[in-house]
Amino acid sequence: MSKNRNSIFSQKLDRIVYITYFLGAIVPLIALAVLANEFVLPEVTDRLAWLGLVALVFSVGSLSLACFLALRRTVHRTLDRMNSDNRRLTVLLEASGRLSNAAHEAEAAATLVRCAFELADATAVFAFAKGSDGKPPTLIESLGDGSDELLRRISSSIDEMLNLVMSQGQPAMRGPEKGRSWGETAAVVIPLAGDEAPIGAIAVIRTDSDGPLDSTRIDALSTLAALASVSMRNSDLRDSQRNFFSHMTELLVNALDSHLQHQNGHGSRVAQYANRVGRELQLDEKQLQRLHFASLLHDIGMLRIDRALLLNATACEKHPTIGARMLEQIRLWQDLAPIVLHHHEHFDGRGYPQGIAGDEIPLEARIIAVCEAFDVMVSSSSYKVASELPDAVQEINDCKGTQFDPHVVETFLDLVERGVIEVMSI
Ligand SMILES: [Fe+2]
Repeated sequence: MSKNRNSIFSQKLDRIVYITYFLGAIVPLIALAVLANEFVLPEVTDRLAWLGLVALVFSVGSLSLACFLALRRTVHRTLDRMNSDNRRLTVLLEASGRLSNAAHEAEAAATLVRCAFELADATAVFAFAKGSDGKPPTLIESLGDGSDELLRRISSSIDEMLNLVMSQGQPAMRGPEKGRSWGETAAVVIPLAGDEAPIGAIAVIRTDSDGPLDSTRIDALSTLAALASVSMRNSDLRDSQRNFFSHMTELLVNALDSHLQHQNGHGSRVAQYANRVGRELQLDEKQLQRLHFASLLHDIGMLRIDRALLLNATACEKHPTIGARMLEQIRLWQDLAPIVLHHHEHFDGRGYPQGIAGDEIPLEARIIAVCEAFDVMVSSSSYKVASELPDAVQEINDCKGTQFDPHVVETFLDLVERGVIEVMSI
């Protein structure tokens, strides 16, 4: 009995079938035999007729036993098939979860080959990406003992199948060919669908003598390939978005630097200080990313303030609100807006624009507040001379618990003392 048949569901089904059979066939048969023995056989005096009756009861019993064995076999086969289907479904569900969370194409390809290997009980699985500029597809992932050697041995056939699949967008199969060089090998190549043409393909190879890959396995592999192709296209899209936003941020930071001529490079320096503080405070990767972009863009609202008013404190106090409003309109930057809005709040509630205090101020904003103040102190500009490091450290320390979060100040000053944070001269 296979391991899967030990599941509660299988055992229950097994029992139901056998109990039904016992009540429906065996019990009436036993009753018939008892009745015949009690009432019919004593009345039959003819020995031949008596033997005939016994033979009849025995035949009916044998037939019933044969039916029972046939039923048992059918039940076991059905349960095996159901368990295989369940296992495939489980693999597909797990694959679906992993593929939807895959951060990049390589992670999606690794999940694809691992799950295909399991679904097809394969000897080897290969994932290919479409070649650029009309070049042949390139191998991006493989799995299986001796898969490299196997691929070398059957490369010409796989290349043929790949070309067919990439040009027609349909799966291609080749079964075992006894007595020929291809031998016992069974292979299927399935396309990874793209918007217009396949973006790649997966090749699944079996080298045992179980015959061609059956339609159930191929259907499951096709579903998996469809999930993987969606994941790969999404990760490609995310890469493009990341690339777009990185360049967009760079453009905005450059525009801000040229607008605030007296604070050139301020955003980049604050981002680097903040990153070190964030890591020391053990922020997770998502928070660190948010802190990085918020640091770069914290003064973005200054772009909307006339250059002639940049030294007017009242006019400049509007920049957190303006900046937050600018970012709120961009969906992927919406979570930066509260950080930008509150980066001039004071820990004791005496800051602006809303006068909120303590933990009400987002942690990233409390970090930026310290880093920004430090950078302004230690940077020289056309309007002021840079403070010496000990003076800046003293000033930051003096504002601990009033303007700045004491824990952030302690972390920041500890990093300065250890030389992790040094004055930057960008
Ligand atoms: Fe600011």
